[in-house]
Amino acid sequence: MKRTHNATDIGLGLVGETVVLNGWVDSRRDHGGLIFIDLRDRSGIIQIVFNPELDESAFHLAESVRGEYVVAVRGEVRERPKDTENPNLKTGKVEIYVEAMEVLNASKTPPFYIENGIEVDELLRLRYRYLDLRRPEMKENLLLRHRVVKEIRDYLDERGFIEIETPILGRSTPEGARDYLVPSRLHPGEFFALPQSPQQYKQMLMVAGMEKYFQIARCFRDEDLRADRQPEFTQLDLEMSFVDEEDIIALIEGMMPRLFQSGCQVEIPVPFPRISYQEAMLKYGTDQPDLRFDWEIVDISGLVANVDFKVFASAIQSGGVVRALNAKGCGSFARREIDELGRMAVEYGAKGMAWINVTETELKSPISKFIAPDTMQEIVKALDAHPGDLLLFGADQADVVARVLGFLRLHLGRRLGLCSPTKLAFAWVHDFPLLEFDPEENRFAAVHHMFTSPKTEDIPLLDTKPQQVRARAYDLVLNGTEIGGGSIRIHNRDLQAKMFAAVGIDSQDAREKFGFMLDAFEYGAPPHGGIAFGIDRLVMLMAGRDSIRDVIAFPKTQSASCPMTDAPSPVSPKQLRELSLKIRET
Ligand code: AMO
Ligand code: AMP
Repeated sequence: MKRTHNATDIGLGLVGETVVLNGWVDSRRDHGGLIFIDLRDRSGIIQIVFNPELDESAFHLAESVRGEYVVAVRGEVRERPKDTENPNLKTGKVEIYVEAMEVLNASKTPPFYIENGIEVDELLRLRYRYLDLRRPEMKENLLLRHRVVKEIRDYLDERGFIEIETPILGRSTPEGARDYLVPSRLHPGEFFALPQSPQQYKQMLMVAGMEKYFQIARCFRDEDLRADRQPEFTQLDLEMSFVDEEDIIALIEGMMPRLFQSGCQVEIPVPFPRISYQEAMLKYGTDQPDLRFDWEIVDISGLVANVDFKVFASAIQSGGVVRALNAKGCGSFARREIDELGRMAVEYGAKGMAWINVTETELKSPISKFIAPDTMQEIVKALDAHPGDLLLFGADQADVVARVLGFLRLHLGRRLGLCSPTKLAFAWVHDFPLLEFDPEENRFAAVHHMFTSPKTEDIPLLDTKPQQVRARAYDLVLNGTEIGGGSIRIHNRDLQAKMFAAVGIDSQDAREKFGFMLDAFEYGAPPHGGIAFGIDRLVMLMAGRDSIRDVIAFPKTQSASCPMTDAPSPVSPKQLRELSLKIRET
C-alpha cells in the first residue's frame, strides 16, 4: 500500500483510476450505510468513502479508526454527485471509494483540534509542537518559509553570490546582546560564544577575496524576548566587496519583490521610500516608522516658544521641544478616553499630555486659557487640523517627546484600524548616528556596531563631536518592524582602531578581542559592506502573523525554554566535571 498520489494531486482527470493514498484521519462521519473520512496528508485533504458492499473489512476498520490515525487506502477515484461537491476543498469535486485499507498506526486523542484558528494556550501548542504543525495554517507557514529561503538562494546565486558557512563555536561578537556561552572541555575555564551574527567572519571573507558572500545564518542572542525576538533566529546575512550604499540597496530592491511574489503572490513596488534617521525621529517618533498610515508629528517649538503656558515655554527654554500629533478623526473621543491616552503618555515618560479638540465651533482644550487665540489658530493650521480632529501635545526633551508621540501615533493607528496586515509599507532609514552616549556606562556606544563606517565627511568630528558623526548605515523597515540592517564597513586599520577607542575599548583590549581584524586590515582589505535580514520577521509579516514563533518550527517560549524537549535542562555531575564547571548554590 505505497502511495501513488498526494491527496491534492487527485482531480477529475483521474476519475475511474485506482490510487493509493497515505495520510492521517482528519475527521470521520458515520452515515449509517456509508462512512466518510477526510484524509489529510501534507498536500491537503480528500474525502474517502467506505461502502460495506465494496469491501466489508475496510468498512469495519473505518468504523474503528479515530482522528489522527495513520492509514493507507486503495480505492477508485469517482466524481462526487452534483449536490455533494465541497467548494472549500481543492479536491472537492472528487472522492475515493475505498477497496482496501490498512491502519499504519493508531493515535491517542490529541490535546487540541488539528485545525486552523484554535484558541489554545501556546504552551500546550509548543509542548505538542508536532501536532501543532499538523494544523494547515502552521504547515503553510513552514512551506512559505521554505519558498522564501529557496528564492533567496536562487536570486543571490544568479548574481554570483556564494553561500559559505561560518562557525557556530566562536568568539564573542559584540552585537549588543548577551552571549550564549559554551564551555570548552579541552580548555578548562574557557568558553566559546555562539554567534550573535556572522559579522566578523563575513568581513574576513571579504578580506579573503570572496567578494560576494551570503548565508542563511543561525544567530544567538540572550536578550529579553518579545513577539518578534527569539534567542535563536535566522538571518539572511550577506556581504559584498567594492560596493557602496546604492549597490546594496539596489540588490535588495531587486530581491524583495521576488520574495513577496513567490512567498505570497504580492506585488511590491520599488524603489522603497527613503527617510533619514533625523526625519523619522521627528515625524514618526521612532527609527522604525510604520508608514501604513500618513500621520506625522509636527514640531511647533517656534510657534509656542513665547506663550504664557509655562509647560511649553520652559520645555523650550531648557533645550527641549514642543511637538504635536494630529490624531485625525479622534475628535469624537470622550474626555475619559483622552484622559486614558494621557495616562499612557505618562507611562511612556511624559509629564503630561495637553490636547486640543477641534470642533466646528471652538477649540476645546485645557490649555486654551494660556495661549492666545491667534496662536491657537496657527497651531491648528500647522497641523492641518479640521473639525473632528484631536491634537495631542508633548513638551520635553526631544527624545522623550519622540517616544511618547511615536507611541500615541502607533497606538491610535492600530486602534483605528489603519495598520491592516495586508498593507505593506517599506522604507529605508539612513543617516543613523554612528555613536550614542550610554549614561550608565558613561561612554559612547556604537548605534549599529563598531565595524560600521562613519561618513567620510564626518570623520574629523570623531574626536570633537562624536555624537554628530553619521554612519554609512541603513535599515529596512516594513510596517513598523526593522526587518534588516547593514552598513558600509570600516576597512582601514587606523580608522577601526579609532572607532574602538571612540567606544571606550582601549588598545590592549582591542588587540585581545579584535587583533585578527586589525591584522587582516593590513593585508589588502577591500572596501566592503553588507546587510542582514531577520528571516523570521520577514516571513512573519508575509504570513500576516504577529509573532515570529508562528513561523519557526520549534521556537522557544518567552522565558527562553522549549516545552517539548524541556531544554534547557540540568546535566550530570560527570558532564560538569569534564567541563571543569561547578554549579554555585543560590
Ligand atoms: P542586526 O543586529 O540589526 O544586524 O540584525 C539583523 C536583523 O536580524 C533580525 N533580528 C532578530 N530576529 C529575531 N530575533 C532576534 N532576537 C533578532 N535580533 C535581530 C532583525 C534585524 O534587522 N551583523 C549585523 C548586520 C550587518 O551589519 O550586516 C546584524 O546582525 O530583523
Ligand atoms: P497643568 O497646568 O499641569 O494642569 O497642565 C495643563 C495641561 O498640560 C494638561 O492637559 C497636562 O496634561 C498638559 N501637560 C503638562 N505637562 C506637559 C508636557 N510636558 N507636555 C505636554 N503636555 C503637558
